[in-house]
Amino acid sequence: MKPKVYVTRKILEEGLKILKKAADIKVWDDELPPPKEILLEEVEDVDGLLSLLTDKIDAEVMNRARKLKIISNYAVGFDNIDVREATARGIMVTNTPEVLTETTADLAFALLMATARRIVEADKFVRAGKWKTWEPMLLLGQDIHGAVLGLIGLGRIGYAVAKRAKGFDMKVLYYDLYRNEKAENELGLEFVEMDELLQKSDFVSIHVPLTPDTKHLINEKTLSMMKKTAILINTARGPVVDEKALYKALVNNEIAGAGLDVMDPEPPNINNPLLKLDNIIILPHIASASIATRTKMAIMAARNLSAGLKGKTPENLVNKEVLNKIKVDED
Ligand code: DGY
Repeated sequence: MKPKVYVTRKILEEGLKILKKAADIKVWDDELPPPKEILLEEVEDVDGLLSLLTDKIDAEVMNRARKLKIISNYAVGFDNIDVREATARGIMVTNTPEVLTETTADLAFALLMATARRIVEADKFVRAGKWKTWEPMLLLGQDIHGAVLGLIGLGRIGYAVAKRAKGFDMKVLYYDLYRNEKAENELGLEFVEMDELLQKSDFVSIHVPLTPDTKHLINEKTLSMMKKTAILINTARGPVVDEKALYKALVNNEIAGAGLDVMDPEPPNINNPLLKLDNIIILPHIASASIATRTKMAIMAARNLSAGLKGKTPENLVNKEVLNKIKVDED
């Protein structure tokens, strides 16, 4: 008998095809994520779960999923999964790194450029019939070329953004828990402490995972250290930024603008005051959303899941410590 797998949303067919070979799959075929009660019911007799970042996979879910061997997250970030609880139960957790790095960096840079040059505001201006003539002072923004970019986090995506910035002759500063001298030499990056990064950067772009330590890393205090002309870009996770503090900073012109691909919560409440501001661009968490990348993510997530179900170590195992608890077939 084939193992059973629950897929919490329809993913691209290329991934589903792989899963169908490995398991009997059931897909939640709705626009919105499965409600918690449904998820709890569905996981009861599954061996594998393919989850999205919108599914909170916590101890309650794992307690119901008595046969669960592997949770394959269709994302590089896995803050939606209680990995400690999974490891304690001998459940493997996997993610989809690398395949989305360049696509996410493209979007981060697009957001940076669109915010700096007020692209969305300008488009709305034209559509509203406000374009009367060429004007010397119309929709003035910030230069990108030659500006200072501060990267908070120099993982794969931060590095890919730095590469793009170099093409624009930007000076790139970075702060990370770990210094990366190889990257410094390759791209001419400069490591600085966080305060210095905030004070010197024209653009601050966030590339850290969401952890208890990075929650509200951008807050009233850190925002107050930024230049009045600076722009904040977040393509990481919404809760890294304290949105109330960001609203105050934008309304009081303490910083010039922000570009967010992620929010807290997602989607934002329609009354969220950030949605009323002109000096912010907000996107619906689409950084990895190219056809090619979402296809690769689907294939990677499916392969991870199939490997785990076959008793092998999946390529993108997040909780390696789990291998001390379970037996895997090494070849
Ligand atoms: C991720 O993978 O973590 C992104 O946020 C969505 O692709």
